[in-house]
Amino acid sequence: MIKYLGSKRRLIPALGDIFTASGATSALDLFTGTTRVAQEFKRRGGLVTAVDLARYSDIFAQCYIALDGDSIDTRELDDALTHLSNLAPEPGYFTQVFCEESRFFQPFNGARIDAIRNAIEADYKESPLYPILLTSLIEAADRVDSTTGVQMAYIKQWSQRSHNELLLRVPEMLPGVGRAVKGRAEELVDSLGPFNLAYLDPPYNQHRYVTNYHIWETLVEWDAPEYYGVACKRIDSRDESTKSVFNSKRAMPPTLFQTIQSVNASPGRRPKPS
Ligand SMILES: C[S@@+](CC[C@H](N)C(=O)[O-])C[C@H]1O[C@@H](n2cnc3c(N)ncnc32)[C@H](O)[C@@H]1O
Repeated sequence: MIKYLGSKRRLIPALGDIFTASGATSALDLFTGTTRVAQEFKRRGGLVTAVDLARYSDIFAQCYIALDGDSIDTRELDDALTHLSNLAPEPGYFTQVFCEESRFFQPFNGARIDAIRNAIEADYKESPLYPILLTSLIEAADRVDSTTGVQMAYIKQWSQRSHNELLLRVPEMLPGVGRAVKGRAEELVDSLGPFNLAYLDPPYNQHRYVTNYHIWETLVEWDAPEYYGVACKRIDSRDESTKSVFNSKRAMPPTLFQTIQSVNASPGRRPKPS
């Protein structure tokens, strides 16, 4: 999984234990980010719905939550990853903007990212493998970036890991289906339930995820947007449509309150104590 601000890596065992102890069989992860928490609920047998505003998060949710890992043709997936891994470098928008005008990735990796992303769009757009391949590419790029974990800036000297070759891996998918929903939690929440357990982990400050991770937004959208600033952020980062009420000190508390009120959650049957 990618490096992600506010990701709940260390809390996963505790959150999983709460899920199990509650006897829940269904769960909602309303601000799913990396989908790490949703994955833990799914791993423990839950029917999970994962929601987020960010484009990259929706791709992760399609891959890790919505798709039944057992339904994937692993040979077809291996062949696709091998094919993509062997493509000749093809420097394009990604290399120019994120490796030359800025220094988020080394150009030799950027040119491979360009080639692989073009091929995913051209050859797999209609395939069930699409979100899996895209997840694999984002996670591979994250392992060779030159940042401190957010994309508002890059490191002056190339990071150690940026010298490594981009390596596509098979994402560790889970058996069972789930649901990925892209959009605003506060608008969707009424229409999602019911669930036995809901987990809400909204942003904590004014820093916006779609700008902190603007390169993943562009890698998913693949629209070669206009950009601005040293970090070459997408021009649509300035649009109201990409802003979140949860980054506003004034608007966040009442919206969070209303969102919690609207969650349709009621307990499952608790397991008998042993
Ligand atoms: C603290 S992070 C969640 C981290 C996640 N629990 C994890 O472990 O990866 C908050 C998430 O809220 C998302 N977000 C921000 N505003 C949102 C909104 N209005 N509706 C849904 N998701 C939103 C961000 O994209 C970000 O992924």
